[in-house]
Amino acid sequence: MAQLDKTSFQLPIENPAAEDFLPLLGTDYVELYVGNAKQAAHYYMSAWGFQPLAYAGLETGLKDRVSYVLQQDKIRLVLTSPLKSGGDINRHIDAHGDGVKSIALWVDDATKSYQETTKRGAESYMEPKTMEDDKGKVVVSGIHTYGETVHLFVERGDYKGVFMPGFRAWDPVYKPSDVGLKYIDHMVGNVGWNEMNKWCQFYEKVMGFAQLVSFDDKDISTEYTALMSKVMSNGNGRIKFPINEPAEGKKKSQIEEYIEFYNGAGVQHMAMATDNIIETVTALKNRGVEFLTVPSSYYEDVLDRVGEIDEDLEPLSELGILIDRDDEGYLLQIFTKPILDRPTMFIEIIQRKGAKSFGKGNFKALFEAIEREQESRGTL
Ligand SMILES: [Fe+2]
Repeated sequence: MAQLDKTSFQLPIENPAAEDFLPLLGTDYVELYVGNAKQAAHYYMSAWGFQPLAYAGLETGLKDRVSYVLQQDKIRLVLTSPLKSGGDINRHIDAHGDGVKSIALWVDDATKSYQETTKRGAESYMEPKTMEDDKGKVVVSGIHTYGETVHLFVERGDYKGVFMPGFRAWDPVYKPSDVGLKYIDHMVGNVGWNEMNKWCQFYEKVMGFAQLVSFDDKDISTEYTALMSKVMSNGNGRIKFPINEPAEGKKKSQIEEYIEFYNGAGVQHMAMATDNIIETVTALKNRGVEFLTVPSSYYEDVLDRVGEIDEDLEPLSELGILIDRDDEGYLLQIFTKPILDRPTMFIEIIQRKGAKSFGKGNFKALFEAIEREQESRGTL
């Protein structure tokens, strides 16, 4: 396995207010519980350009579930499905549909990470467990966060295997090319009414994070939908977790729609970074990924708002890529429609050109686009 390089994460947004009793080296992987991992794996390969990496299932001695591991540069996804009725994975899928179960964080010491967080009040999900094979050992521990989502702490040491003990290399003939996705920029959680501060405090107290930015409903409301959001980040800035809660509007908040269909709090979107958003989004569209669109009027005055940019406006406007600027630079971003049948999770593609924010200037245009979608689902 290509070991993640501790020094090569791009654009860490250092957050000196955060405490470092829990050094996090990056996102190790994201595990989704899905109804049909074999077909989901095909989707993430064919549409998203993920490369097959590892597999565990009946052939490797598992009796009750199967997992496929896919990788694109530093992003690793694990897709897990149950093989039998009953059990936690089925219950999770029944309650939430396909969705993110674990955000696994890469640490030097999974036992210490577990001790530091549980002594600060985190609820235990998994006590430190050592897994070993002839390629070395990996230690994993875990704590609960919002909803039924968990954080795992993964200590890899000098493990030389393909992913983890228990997995074997997965090397099918079909390997579509990648689309230039590089690393996870941020992962956003949706929580229930009036729960944003509680979960921000959780990240502050239990994980030593600090708040990076906040938006209130004046920033993020349209005529109908509204939400509030705060961004929590760890000390080296490699881990950024915006937390959203619904806010009162004339009609149903998009966060409320999520909570209803996900049956509680959960991961709303994963933002994946690219160095060339025009190429990445062109490739994704050609492979069938559907994005939210903004009216062409968005591009009429966007340069007045964001100033000069390196890219031509035309391909950006053809693809529907949004632009925003902060004090330090600008960013380009675009959001998919929900990638599941339930209107729950979606994916953001982001290219940072110095900007360290999250596209606040685009929220209004974006939310109007989301409302048009909600309208068509009858959930506005
Ligand atoms: Fe985002």
